Amino acid sequence: MTDSRAMNSAPSITRLADYEAFPFAIDSVDLTFELDPTHTRVTQVSRVRRVVHGTNALELNGKDLKRVALKIDGVEVQSDRLVEIDETLLVRQVPDEFVLEVVTEINPEANTALEGLYLSNGMFCTQCEAEGFRRITYYPDRPDVMSVFTTRIISDASRPVLLSNGNPVSDQHLPDGRREVFWSDPFPKPCYLFALVGGDLAVKHDEFVTMSGRRIDLRIYVEPKDLDRVDYALESLKRAMAWDESVYGREYDLDIFMIVAVSHFNMGAMENKGLNIFNSSCVLANAEAATDQAFQRIEAIVAHEYFHNWSGNRVTCRDWFQLSLKEGFTVFRDSEFSADINSRAVKRIQDVNFLRSAQFTEDSGPTAHPVQPSEYQEISNFYTLTIYEKGAEVVRMIRTLLGPELFRKGSDLYFARHDGQAVTINEFVAAMADVSGRDFTQFMRWYRQPGTPRLRVDVSHDSQTKQLQIQLMQKQPVVASGESHAHYVIPVSYQVIDQVTGAVVVPETLFELSDESASITHDGIATNPVVSILRGLSAPVKLEMDRSVDELVALARFDDDGVNRWDAIQELYMQAISGFLKDLDSSIDDALRRLICDLISDPAKVADPACLAEMLALPQDNILWDAFQPADPQKILEARKALRQSIARAGASSWFELYEAMRVDGPYEPTADAIGRRSLAITALGYLAKVEPIDDLLKDIDASASNLTERYAAYRIARSDAADEVSLELSEKFLNRADTDEVLDLWLSTEAMNEKTATIDRIKELTSHSRFAWTNPNRVRAVLGTFANRNVRAFHTPEGYRLLADSVLKLDAMNPQIASRLVMPLCQWGRFEKGFQDAMKSELRRMIAKDLSKDLYEIVSKSVD
Ligand code: BES
Ligand code: ZN
Repeated sequence: MTDSRAMNSAPSITRLADYEAFPFAIDSVDLTFELDPTHTRVTQVSRVRRVVHGTNALELNGKDLKRVALKIDGVEVQSDRLVEIDETLLVRQVPDEFVLEVVTEINPEANTALEGLYLSNGMFCTQCEAEGFRRITYYPDRPDVMSVFTTRIISDASRPVLLSNGNPVSDQHLPDGRREVFWSDPFPKPCYLFALVGGDLAVKHDEFVTMSGRRIDLRIYVEPKDLDRVDYALESLKRAMAWDESVYGREYDLDIFMIVAVSHFNMGAMENKGLNIFNSSCVLANAEAATDQAFQRIEAIVAHEYFHNWSGNRVTCRDWFQLSLKEGFTVFRDSEFSADINSRAVKRIQDVNFLRSAQFTEDSGPTAHPVQPSEYQEISNFYTLTIYEKGAEVVRMIRTLLGPELFRKGSDLYFARHDGQAVTINEFVAAMADVSGRDFTQFMRWYRQPGTPRLRVDVSHDSQTKQLQIQLMQKQPVVASGESHAHYVIPVSYQVIDQVTGAVVVPETLFELSDESASITHDGIATNPVVSILRGLSAPVKLEMDRSVDELVALARFDDDGVNRWDAIQELYMQAISGFLKDLDSSIDDALRRLICDLISDPAKVADPACLAEMLALPQDNILWDAFQPADPQKILEARKALRQSIARAGASSWFELYEAMRVDGPYEPTADAIGRRSLAITALGYLAKVEPIDDLLKDIDASASNLTERYAAYRIARSDAADEVSLELSEKFLNRADTDEVLDLWLSTEAMNEKTATIDRIKELTSHSRFAWTNPNRVRAVLGTFANRNVRAFHTPEGYRLLADSVLKLDAMNPQIASRLVMPLCQWGRFEKGFQDAMKSELRRMIAKDLSKDLYEIVSKSVD
């Protein structure tokens, strides 16, 4: 694989400013695959037509290909007309209109990068986004070249299932005993949406009738052993199809929609036209083999990939700088779907928590970039939290500013105007501007400036004049590059409540802050107003506001916005952790203790168990590291544990009762209600284990649970709080029952994060487990990803950093995408105290001296000089 490695000295940079339209149109692409594990032959016949005059060189892309033939109108092109540099092949002096024929040979079995055509457990499958198609054939591998594709797949009988995009046209036996299946996709698409699957697969069929009465054949293909785990994904798919019809007026277009589950996959799932390919962990579920969280994730991902059929496929991206056009919008769509069919408040709390703990971190570190970046080295590195999560927040702000009706009109206009086109983020915003008459010029800064802006809020109240003043001021983001920033348009949603009664004094109001500062005044407010601001996180900013314990307690008790109720108690936890950092023997505020008691002491009064479970979860490490700079992760870990212990003690008399009250009897159902109750029951159980031994109860749950969620909780809690003997017993039992890869990964990750037992040697032992494989990204994420992101004790040591660096180097030779994602925790050195910094940097420097892939080189070189 040496030719897939980059020379470290000369990274090539792709710039948005250099964009030029492709000078040719490709009217059709006919592909023929003769499948063979080591020698697959691909024949491409394309009709090409010049559309821009002045050039007669055709620019194709190719990578790791054996070129067997390249013909124009049936005549082999002589080598003096070909110039091949890196991944570009220039064919010079082409006619105005011609038939291009390319024959290549590829080796799917040797493909461990999992881009292009590869084998997963003997199954042929593809991953072409972003630039995988160039590993299949020479072609203009850019999203603005859209064409109509047909696919012929020829294989021997060992692979009875042969799939590609579009509709099946024919299926015949060839004279030589092989079989040939022919697919045709009538919708023009860029090559990144091409897909092919070939294997011995089992299928489950279903049907969906669209709003205009068309019958769609739905199919999920999996390895035969997995057929008992497809029902939930199929149900989720139907819910998503119905939701997109009712909320966006979008109907499915082909006659058939297929999902295929594969074991080896770099990402979660991929929206190939008519043939979505999924990481098996993001599609397979049943009560015994998936947790509640897995069920919810599966529902969201199935929906996300389905929604791309409009936001991504029918209307696609002009270039990869526009990635958030499809990903930000589609994440927004899938989160609204989840909010509509589950609990809106809980979904929003989870999204806000994720944004703050992960995207805000990215946005203040060495790889910070705008939602619409202006340059990149390796596009695979730009599938980031900023493109996805911040991109979704920006779309959410557009809807907040426009209101739901105009937003729907805007999306209708966008789809109508650009159906079948490859467009930019500007076109999306222009549709929103056109339906509303609103000027989005200033708003566009959200797409173009990196970093998280800060919002300073100062509240003053005069009981004599009964006047309440809210001062707003936006402040520059803290970004590594130190660029200066123009002001944003910040939608600030707020409400005022009474501190004692919780009564609403000023109902929810939207204020648009577009200048540096503004002041809002409300008269006639006599006593104790408390301001609930940035409700539902109305803008992706960091709030800077001095709030007293009493105000925070009032918000945590009374705020009718779930996010702000949760945020208030999180802020109280932060203040408590700050106290423990100064003195580990200090104790939590009485007001916080009382608040916790009141929240949990009467199970009958718990209105929203899932929300309460979120409120009882402590702030994540990333948030703490950001707040207590420069961070000593080991000290912060101790402070966090002290807080956890204090909360456990504060509620000591209630945890068991709460656990009992929330337990869900009867057959397992992954409904929002049942999931919420289980999540609170498990939270209570976790705290209970901190104040009294519950080994027998945990063993009992392990033995009698009807579902994986409860059984897994018992194992996890035992692993951190039970006596060694019981802890070990439940771990072994969990592993013995782990008969699917997904349950195995739960075991691997739990073992890898266990503070007591997961030493460096233990991590190495896990990577030597008979079921571990470096070539499977799910196994690697379960052990090493969890170790680096969730095992503070063992990872944040010189030996931990070294283990990660060694693992990343080893992986880089097989799968650069996975390596460059896994290295991220080391790149966060800027947040830590000097000793940690130095140890992290020395590992990065050791890495950069090696021959790295383009992917890994970009990340490491941006993080260390
Ligand atoms: N288009 C992406 C998958 C993808 C990303 C392929 C990068 C190749 C390179 C897909 O739509 C996606 O966004 N998947 C997410 C899950 C989603 C629910 C956010 C993923 O795979 O994590
Ligand atoms: Zn996506």
